[in-house]
Amino acid sequence: MKSIAAIHNSYGKPAEVLKAETVETPEPQKGEALVKLVRAVINPSDLGMIGGTYGRLRPLPAIAGREGIGEVVALGPDTEGPAVGSIVRLPPEPGAWNQFQTAKADGLLVVPSGLSPDMCAMAFINPPTALCILNQFADLKEGDWVIQNGAGSALGYFLIQMCKARGIKTVNMLRNAKAKEAELKAIGADIIVDEAEFDAKEIKKQTGGKLLLGLNQIGGESVSNMIKAMGDSATIVTIGGMVGDPIRFPTRFLIFNDLRLRGFWWDKFQNTKPEETKKIYAEIFGMIENGTLKAPVDSVFPMEKIADAVKRASENSRTGKVMIEF
Ligand SMILES: NC(=O)c1ccc[n+]([C@@H]2O[C@H](COP(=O)([O-])OP(=O)(O)OC[C@H]3O[C@@H](n4cnc5c(N)ncnc54)[C@H](OP(=O)(O)O)[C@@H]3O)[C@@H](O)[C@H]2O)c1
Repeated sequence: MKSIAAIHNSYGKPAEVLKAETVETPEPQKGEALVKLVRAVINPSDLGMIGGTYGRLRPLPAIAGREGIGEVVALGPDTEGPAVGSIVRLPPEPGAWNQFQTAKADGLLVVPSGLSPDMCAMAFINPPTALCILNQFADLKEGDWVIQNGAGSALGYFLIQMCKARGIKTVNMLRNAKAKEAELKAIGADIIVDEAEFDAKEIKKQTGGKLLLGLNQIGGESVSNMIKAMGDSATIVTIGGMVGDPIRFPTRFLIFNDLRLRGFWWDKFQNTKPEETKKIYAEIFGMIENGTLKAPVDSVFPMEKIADAVKRASENSRTGKVMIEF
């Protein structure tokens, strides 16, 4: 069967190397389901995979994309599986940005019905990462503080919303604080500060030494500044490096404040801990259902306009996630 997929034959600038091309998708056999793309999400990691800079690359030629939802449109003969019409997670491999994919039916993750398709499409990478950061790196109690840079990202929204639900307060650093201040306040952010105006002493005073967990999505100077505001024995977890600058090794804070620097990679977690991953997804869908988690969409592009979609996703000051649809 003919299917339109976003393919790249080399690693490079996504808007230049990615093309919408017709590929062959096999008809589903026994035990298989045919899944049609409904909504896919463009994340920074997709751009890194296409660009050849991510921690794991696909062999070329590659179909891009890792996250989204699709509809089961056919089942192979004698196949019990998610019923035709079910909404499921798009199989992330070999590549999610593909109109039709044939996949093992019993491996498909069914998405609860009645939820926002946009939110479900972005449920599989950023929300579980935010949840793991909160659960795994500090013993946080109501009234404690968490700080993050890049707070205007989708992941930043989810972290704020999860903290709010637990009575944990947040300091949110971002490069364009004015543009997103009202929106972040509305979802429960406590302190919002422009990275260019960050005053570590002032933040330390306002948080009373209870800044116990930091999330670094950006790298460079913003982390060096964050480090100075942390409470004793706090942990900073790095999950992204939107700027390539190195982080200055914080000798005195490691010694005198017992600062801990860690990293986290959701890809590794979900590949090595499938049972925990299932529970995490159930918790995430619970939080989508009860309205805790919401993040904005900037724009939705048809697959034929994949180059425009990845170009938009690479631009500064988006108002939310860029999506692909059929
Ligand atoms: N390690 C993991 O397992 C894991 C999992 C999920 C996500 N992540 C990482 O988490 C981060 C957020 O992901 P996302 O999907 O939520 O991102 P997103 O929604 O696409 O947003 C990216 C954000 O980064 C900001 N940004 C980009 N370049 C910047 C710079 N030079 N200085 C300051 N801010 C900058 C943008 O700010 P503007 O609004 O100003 O443009 C935007 O708010 C990414 O680094 C991603 O790779 C890691």
